[in-house]
Amino acid sequence: MSVDLLLGLQWGDEGKGKIVDVLTSSYDVIARFQGGPNAGHTLEFDGIKHVLHTIPSGIFHPKAINLIGNGVVIDPVIFKKEIKNLEPYNLDFSKKLLISKKAHLILPTHRLLDAASEASKGKAKIGSTLKGIGPTYMDKTGRNGIRVGDILATNWEEKYQSLTQKHLDMLKGYEASVEYDLKALEDEFFLSIAELRKFELVDSEQYLFEAQKAGKKILAEGAQGSLLDIDFGTYPFVTSSTTTAAGACTGLGVAPNKIKKVFGIFKAYTTRVGSGPFPTELFDDYGETMGRVGNEFGATTGRSRRCGWIDIVALRYTIHINGVTQLMMMKGDVLSGFNKIKICTAYQTNDGKMDYLPYDIANSGIKPIYEELPGWKEDLTKMTDVSEFPENFKNYINYLEKVLETPIKIVSVGPDRKQTIYR
Ligand code: GDP
Ligand code: IMO
Ligand code: MG
Repeated sequence: MSVDLLLGLQWGDEGKGKIVDVLTSSYDVIARFQGGPNAGHTLEFDGIKHVLHTIPSGIFHPKAINLIGNGVVIDPVIFKKEIKNLEPYNLDFSKKLLISKKAHLILPTHRLLDAASEASKGKAKIGSTLKGIGPTYMDKTGRNGIRVGDILATNWEEKYQSLTQKHLDMLKGYEASVEYDLKALEDEFFLSIAELRKFELVDSEQYLFEAQKAGKKILAEGAQGSLLDIDFGTYPFVTSSTTTAAGACTGLGVAPNKIKKVFGIFKAYTTRVGSGPFPTELFDDYGETMGRVGNEFGATTGRSRRCGWIDIVALRYTIHINGVTQLMMMKGDVLSGFNKIKICTAYQTNDGKMDYLPYDIANSGIKPIYEELPGWKEDLTKMTDVSEFPENFKNYINYLEKVLETPIKIVSVGPDRKQTIYR
């Protein structure tokens, strides 16, 4: 009768897809609880790499049910493409994939509004993935949204037309204009809606309730990262959903006292894609090497990710907010060959030394205060047991475990399923 939860502790792309895939063999249900196709979750096995945007990362396992929860926003056009990409694997979606009727739909005009909003912001733009996430969640909380369950009703097209007209009027109010061919967008959209109707559209909170009652093991899969959370992230440079632990309750209908383990994933360094403050960002060879060796390009947009040293101040904050019970450290292999590893343990700010995130991160004059540890030369990617780790890598892990006051249970040393080491 419990639900475990896995989420990213930084600005996204920590490796959630890989670890959910690895953990799925121990679960009956994998449930995405927020975000939408702004996410790009990568998993690799048998020499093949998959990127998932809306579909949970347990989809390749023979038995697990994958559920897209009510907190997710779905773009039917992207969803259809994802399904098409999975065709070669002959997955039986009627048995493996459930979609909440309460999940909200991203309409073509939500994407146009996202583009117009970003273009009008100029230099202050968020760096959105332009997937329509912000405008769709705005319609949800504004009580104008269209939900997946609505497409089963006969009057659904009226609802669609009325919301689309509203969006077209709103578009005129933006300084920047966006070019679009509404007819082409709508043709694609309605074809995709017809596809979506063929899937199992369910009352997902009821499904999960019954699954818990039957003793099924459920893993909630987060998207984005805690520093992109609408409340606790680096606002306004955030996404529009609750990416932190509470989002699993609202995004699935799971009660807080049913959540047991909270897995927090982080990279052995930090990355961020899009705009916004990033105290430990590097503009030197170290940062360039992290990006190149770590192949730090967005899985959704292909944009290069900004790179920097690990930030303990930020990690402690997200560990507290999420109630993380155990950690997973990803991509330590990328740091092999660095002569030194820096760890930001506090911030020097205009108001003195701080060991927590200030309200206005961008304007606090933050200068990271670093501790330094010696690096390691060895290639970690072929290692299969902690006993093989070089001393300096062990020291780094032990140091992080101590300052984060949380055990690091998994160390990932490469993108493949097999490159996963338990401690
Ligand atoms: P997610 O959004 O959290 O699922 O992460 P992404 O898939 O966007 O980005 C993580 C990237 O790092 C992907 O390209 C993964 O294949 C890759 N990756 C995951 N774990 C490791 C690791 O331990 N080492 C290396 N080198 N790459 C990894
Ligand atoms: P996964 O699940 C990294 C970032 C965008 C932008 C901000 C707002 O793969 O970790 P949005 O499209 O939500 O309006 O963009 O959030 N962002 C992500 N960064 N990983 C993600 O997801 C992200 N999803 C959104 O780059 O800065
Ligand atoms: Mg990603």
